[in-house]
Amino acid sequence: MSDPLQGLREGLAAIQARAAEIAAAVTREADLPEARAEFFGRKKGAFNPIMSELGKLSREARPEAGQLINDSKLAVEALFEAAKARLEAEALDAAIEAGRLDVTLPGRRVARGAIHPIQRVMDELIDLFGQMGFDLAEGPEVETEAYNFDLLNMPADHPARDMQDTFYLSGGLLLRTQTSPMQIRAMEAQQPPIRIIAPGKVFRADSDPTHSPTFHQIEGLWIDEDVTIVHLKAVLTDFLHRLFGPDKKVRFRPSFFPFTEPSVEVDIWDESGAEGKWMEVLGAGMVHPQVLRNVGWDPNKVQGFAFGLGVDRLAMTRYGITHIAHLFTNDQRFLSQF
Ligand code: DAH
Repeated sequence: MSDPLQGLREGLAAIQARAAEIAAAVTREADLPEARAEFFGRKKGAFNPIMSELGKLSREARPEAGQLINDSKLAVEALFEAAKARLEAEALDAAIEAGRLDVTLPGRRVARGAIHPIQRVMDELIDLFGQMGFDLAEGPEVETEAYNFDLLNMPADHPARDMQDTFYLSGGLLLRTQTSPMQIRAMEAQQPPIRIIAPGKVFRADSDPTHSPTFHQIEGLWIDEDVTIVHLKAVLTDFLHRLFGPDKKVRFRPSFFPFTEPSVEVDIWDESGAEGKWMEVLGAGMVHPQVLRNVGWDPNKVQGFAFGLGVDRLAMTRYGITHIAHLFTNDQRFLSQF
């Protein structure tokens, strides 16, 4: 008995064979819709003529024929789904290949920061004074003439107030030329006993191989009812011995500062050169009675000493730095040594 669906079966088999060929030949995902349209497109779809044949079949044969066509459509659909999956996998492989990590390449070095030699010495000094009972105080780099000069007993005709040395700003302000104004600010802010250090930047209008327009000082102040020059000597000697070792030779020389009386300069014996030499490290003195009166205190009741320490030169001797410019040009080759 002949199979009434023989022709249909063959037709569908041919469509599927052709679909398998076409789906396998597609190389780009973007070409898939057009390839698919050859079978499912409304106008040119390969299944369309077969669907119209359906009407010519006998009533009994139709359900099976419909089933056959449906199965065939699903099979073709599956071919294109498989092609899509294949193309996606190929695209992923290509992307991975393109962005591939070469684990044999040498790594990229991460630049590591270092603490600047000035900050190192600062930290060390602040720590030492902290151990000796000094509190930390901070104040502005932009100061008034009153704090930077007048209240420190440096009258208007004092040579340090010369335009040559001071960076004046508008409005009667200036860049502080010393950390000494922190003495006044500390005495205004608290009652004796006062024992503070005030580290920070100071500014002067000179610049040559040994001077930078910005440098660093630490101001110290100890005020109480019975602080004498003996305390000054003991504290500063102790400090220098803690910093440089107990055998370091220390010398006190008479000097002059407008805001202290008497005043001294303190030297240490520097053995870094071929012949040793005295190197000045500190200015100091008993706070001038006029300075105490300037903040409203009675010099017969309270007294004390102040000192000022230059940090930059200390850092240079400490680390054997020969040129001051190294301290602020921020050359990585230099800084990374610390
Ligand atoms: N301010 C002074 C300067 O910059 C240093 C100084 C000397 C500070 C003596 C003091 C001091 O507190 O007592 O040259």
